[in-house]
Amino acid sequence: MSLRLIFIIFSMLLLIPGQTLAWPWSRDMMNQPSIKPQEGEMPESPPRSVPVGGYPTPVKNRLHAARLANPIAASAESIARGKQFYTIFCVPCHGSNGKGDGPVGKKFPVSPMDLTNDFIQHQAFDNWIYANITFGGKLMPAYKNDLASDERWDVVNYIRHQLLQDLQQRATPQQTADKTGGR
Ligand code: HEC
Repeated sequence: MSLRLIFIIFSMLLLIPGQTLAWPWSRDMMNQPSIKPQEGEMPESPPRSVPVGGYPTPVKNRLHAARLANPIAASAESIARGKQFYTIFCVPCHGSNGKGDGPVGKKFPVSPMDLTNDFIQHQAFDNWIYANITFGGKLMPAYKNDLASDERWDVVNYIRHQLLQDLQQRATPQQTADKTGGR
């Protein structure tokens, strides 16, 4: 094979969109007959519709996130909110035990990280977890548009302060609680 041909094939490989995750189907949901930003005049909102604000993300990138301190104290309220968000947004992949064994997580070629491991529980900084929630991973989706910044810190607080206890409690269920109808 001539060098020239190898060069051409190599250049074409570089054009494959895998690197940026810009697969044609990545934008399928966007290609629909809706009015896009800057496209003509906004129609009147239907009656009884409720306006929602966006979620500004006060963090530019991972490097910036690495300098942030957790601004939300790990209070019982924050942990309870975090658990709710965790249940909605993380359980499908990471599982309610945090082990990475949620029904969607099992379909991934790389298992979602075990969030009860020593690294997440004792070594990682809060801002590392926050950055991963905000910007996602190679496979994991980003949550900067779905969860407000404070809500993401709530999830961090839940993972750091209660996820492990919840797992241990499930492993040794209290029988009396079942009989009295407790959850
Ligand atoms: C659609 C599946 C999916 C969902 C939903 C999901 N994750 Fe993940 N997560 C993954 C996968 C897969 C990985 C490992 C590979 C990677 O980094 O993308 C991962 C990795 C992580 C990591 C470690 C990052 C690393 O470098 O490996 C953290 C921390 C994490 N997830 C937290 C969360 C939290 C918190 C939520 C909920 C807000 C969440 N994830 C929701 C799939 C998911």
